[in-house]
Amino acid sequence: YAHPARDLRPERHPLSVVAHRGASEDAPEHTLAAYRKAIEDGADALECDVRLTADGHLVCVHDRRVNRTSNGRGAVSSLELADLATLDFGSWKADVSDREAPDLDATSVLTLERLLELVADAGRRVELAIETKHPTRWAGQVEQKLLELLGRFGLAGPPSDDGPSPVRVMSFSARSLHRVQLAAPALPTVYLMQFVSPRHRDGRLPAGVRIAGPSIRIIRKDPGYVARLHDAGNEVHVWTVNEPEDVELCARLGVDALITNRPRRVLTQLGRS
Ligand code: G3P
Ligand code: CA
Repeated sequence: YAHPARDLRPERHPLSVVAHRGASEDAPEHTLAAYRKAIEDGADALECDVRLTADGHLVCVHDRRVNRTSNGRGAVSSLELADLATLDFGSWKADVSDREAPDLDATSVLTLERLLELVADAGRRVELAIETKHPTRWAGQVEQKLLELLGRFGLAGPPSDDGPSPVRVMSFSARSLHRVQLAAPALPTVYLMQFVSPRHRDGRLPAGVRIAGPSIRIIRKDPGYVARLHDAGNEVHVWTVNEPEDVELCARLGVDALITNRPRRVLTQLGRS
């Protein structure tokens, strides 16, 4: 039996290393410092979670509330960007606050716009994997703002160089991905999975999605899932892959990208630095 969908996949490319929330093992997650470090480390791509502030700015914050990663309290959606700008998003991690001159890049809230500027100035191709968080709550506003912003940077349409798009949008919500597909058909979408629902067990994904984002736990339990996803014509981007044995497993199974908190170590393990 031939797998016709398999032929739709482009030539195999090397395993891509994606920095999860930046080089978040070494620097406070989602700060400019974490992303700078990831670029210096040689990461192929940067992962970031985006949320809308009360006044409509997209900021890179993982949790619904700022409590864990800053010295403030409250939901991102109830705070304005100016409120977030007064908070310290770095000192919870290690000894950032002990330094004589605090490094603002390691303590300030990061807007998606600033991250796009960083990537534009990187001096080499750096891809972005942007995750929409709790998009259903906002009835499309997160996606709309995201596509507006990407449009301003020339990143929402087909890539100018005919290569693969440097940006992809990820979500656990198929509805969020569907909104992106309708408004920006050239942007690849990634369907994130914490568990595999029966309808995706054979490797098929929601309509229009060609990249699966399974948790490493799924792959540890069922390594054959990578081949089923590939055979159905999809790429496989696994998260969050930090342990050397998991990196090894992903490399052996031929996954397309792995999302990690420690890009430098993973690149070293893969013989790329
Ligand atoms: O890259 C996908 C992964 O980040 C999803 O989980 O909770 O870290 O956003 P989470
Ligand atoms: Ca994420």
